[in-house]
Amino acid sequence: MKSSEIRQKFLQFFQSKGHTIVPSSSLVPGNDPTLLFTNSGMVQFKDVFTGKETRAYTRATSSQRSVRAGGKHNDLENVGYTARHHTFFEMLGNFSFGDYFKRDAIQYAWELLTQVYKLPAEKLWVTVYQEDDEAYDIWAKEVGVPAERIIRIGDNKGARYASDNFWQMADTGPCGPCSEIFYDHGPEIWGGPPGSPEEDGDRYIEIWNLVFMQFERDAAGNMPRLPKPCVDTGMGLERIAAVLQGVHSNYEIDLFQKLIAAAARETGVTDLENNSLKVIADHIRACSFLIVDGVIPSNEGRGYVLRRIIRRALRHGYKLGQTKPFFHRMVADLVAEMGEAYPELANTADRVAQVLKQEEERFGETLENGMKILDGALASVPAGGQLDGTTLFTLYDTYGFPVDLTADICRERKVEVDLAGFDTAMARQREQARAAGKFKMAEGLSYEGADTRFEGYEHLELDDVKVVALYANGTSVPRIEAGQDAVVVLDATPFYAESGGQVGDTGLLEADGVRFAVADTQKVQAGVFGHHGKLESGHLAVGDILLARVDGLRRARTVRNHSATHLMHKALRQVLGAHVQQRGSLVDPDKTRFDFAQDAPMTAEQIARVEAIVNAEILANHATQAQVMAYDDAVKGGAMALFGEKYGDSVRVLDIGFSRELCGGTHVSRTGDIGMFKIVAESGVAAGVRRIEAITGDNTLAWVQAQTALLGRAAGALRTPPAELPDRIAQVQEQVKTLEKELDQARSKLAASAGNDLADKATVDVKGVKVLAAGIGAVDPKALRGMVDQLKDKLKSAVVLLAGSQDGKISVVGGVTADLTGRVKAGDLVGFVSSQIGGKGGGRPDMAMGGGSDAGALPAAIASVRQWVEERL
Ligand code: ALA
Repeated sequence: MKSSEIRQKFLQFFQSKGHTIVPSSSLVPGNDPTLLFTNSGMVQFKDVFTGKETRAYTRATSSQRSVRAGGKHNDLENVGYTARHHTFFEMLGNFSFGDYFKRDAIQYAWELLTQVYKLPAEKLWVTVYQEDDEAYDIWAKEVGVPAERIIRIGDNKGARYASDNFWQMADTGPCGPCSEIFYDHGPEIWGGPPGSPEEDGDRYIEIWNLVFMQFERDAAGNMPRLPKPCVDTGMGLERIAAVLQGVHSNYEIDLFQKLIAAAARETGVTDLENNSLKVIADHIRACSFLIVDGVIPSNEGRGYVLRRIIRRALRHGYKLGQTKPFFHRMVADLVAEMGEAYPELANTADRVAQVLKQEEERFGETLENGMKILDGALASVPAGGQLDGTTLFTLYDTYGFPVDLTADICRERKVEVDLAGFDTAMARQREQARAAGKFKMAEGLSYEGADTRFEGYEHLELDDVKVVALYANGTSVPRIEAGQDAVVVLDATPFYAESGGQVGDTGLLEADGVRFAVADTQKVQAGVFGHHGKLESGHLAVGDILLARVDGLRRARTVRNHSATHLMHKALRQVLGAHVQQRGSLVDPDKTRFDFAQDAPMTAEQIARVEAIVNAEILANHATQAQVMAYDDAVKGGAMALFGEKYGDSVRVLDIGFSRELCGGTHVSRTGDIGMFKIVAESGVAAGVRRIEAITGDNTLAWVQAQTALLGRAAGALRTPPAELPDRIAQVQEQVKTLEKELDQARSKLAASAGNDLADKATVDVKGVKVLAAGIGAVDPKALRGMVDQLKDKLKSAVVLLAGSQDGKISVVGGVTADLTGRVKAGDLVGFVSSQIGGKGGGRPDMAMGGGSDAGALPAAIASVRQWVEERL
């Protein structure tokens, strides 16, 4: 049975049991910061299990694209070493949301396996969670599985609920005991039943996991019950396909055979059993689908996992002798294999290949040199030895070798890697970078006092603040004098220090006769704010008391842009989809600049919709609410957290209009304060990343006035009211077209009469044949050609050669009427003339073109035509 048929039969089977077929969701979980990638079918239903969301159905089935790399469920290291692990796989699943529970879940699974897929019952083994007598009894008494093939598995991984038969999506989230179904691949393969010491062998393979979802785990480890018990099942398509296609390894199934062949083609390998081909075939699937879902290679978060997988694939290609980019060419093979089941892949194939190619080119520059360094280092490490942390770090830092890539190579050579040494080398480098860092960044300033008390959410001005540290030229000083640049740390401040994309505040620190102008505020350490600037008058010493005053106008502008960014982020998700993830942002007094994951440029209509949504929120004049709460509660409450950002245990949750985000920035108190919001630019910054620039408040007014003035100038120039400008422009364009046409006609008339003149004045008779050779000044080659044609017509039987010049280049066109081409060839004539003026030419016997650049030689060249023709008659 082909994989596509297996997928289809699964979905149809559950559809016949009242399940709704739901399409696969993205690999990037929508709005779920607890998870790196979608790792199973239940992810898109997480909130339905917990009761936070309801759907029109209580039974669902899906084939979900899943990635297990870099997160809680991570199989990256196993790929290439086992017959059944993948970074990317498809999970077939059926789900019950408070509808059926253990009995039906088990019965359905058994029916599908034994009656639809027709697997022999005696080949199937099952496991249940140690305490789950209910599931045990259903298997034993109702399904009739013999007791020796039902195995109870307890908390065999050390802690309560740490068990192969207790499944949870991530460290937090829905979870419950599970029952797994295994297939016995037969005694010729090594391995033992689940729970036995040989369980890791490849003989007994888990094919289906039935999870009885009952709890929701929180970060503190509490496990309150779900509102209703639910069912979540998962069967890896590749594994069941291996069983049904009678092969032992997933890599032998139909889906993989073509990809392995493609990898062999691209690397020039003939042995299809080569493990590296399997790794490449696995990785092209994960990488392509991650890119389809908006992930791009980068140095952090999801992007870094993608980069690691790509580079691992390239290294295996390199091992097979392929040093040129090849990986991206396999996208077409993948589309042929999976494009039908996943149209989103087929639709973005070009972009996927382009992103991969870029990454290949980038890594290609260092891969070879890195391998030389590694080979050199490994030459002195015996099998069983360890590669030192410094080399590991150099490879990472200078050659772009992710640690797991180096570890993969070392593993092949039976060498360990010194991870602790790597961490030390990394820490040392950070330290050096900090020491060498710019003073402006305020890093490297040593400070040991208490954190700054930030009062800037409520106040723009704060009296009686105390100077607790002063820095000049990068070192701590007790006192500064007028004219000095310095960094001032206060015990409390209303100044916001740059973070979360919002720029630092500017303003003044003052006391009698003392004035320190703050040009920027940057953090010295996580909770310590440094006021950077110049002491304009007086002197300042540690212990002095000051009045701190933020530039309120600048802050107000910044704040409007920041709050508008939250509204826009939410609106973008509504208009473009939940894949819109923030990639970077800069909020300053002039604008907000927001980068986000999105393939296609936004249409004018989409931009207009985002503007309308944001402005509607502004007009509604909602009050902003900020609350500090536990991170966990915030995420549960639906706050949008940015993946890869580090959040403390307690976070600030900001509700602005319809948006809720975790944010430490300063904001408007009501949305109405934003004034008007306008997007002024939308562009691409990298593959899969778009950038929006938008403005608010008085900046929008200034923008509108500037645009209006521009329009006024344009309208003035065309002497029309602005409203009629488009019509007027169309009119002018029409006029230009008409004039151009008239000009063309006039030109050809002119040329014709010039031709007539020439024919009359310059034609000579050579042995009874009319010969006309002339230079006619500034004419473009096309017009020249037209003239030659006309002259041929007019003279009826003749040899014509005209030369014209334009932009310092001489064109030569020759024509011979049909009756003479047997004797005189235009191509030869033009070649002859062109060669005399430093150029070349040629063409047909009746019409040829050429040219040159030596204007001084042109008269003689033209004069030579007559004799040249004569010799040929
Ligand atoms: N979510 C369950 C699993 O992934 C079915 O094993």
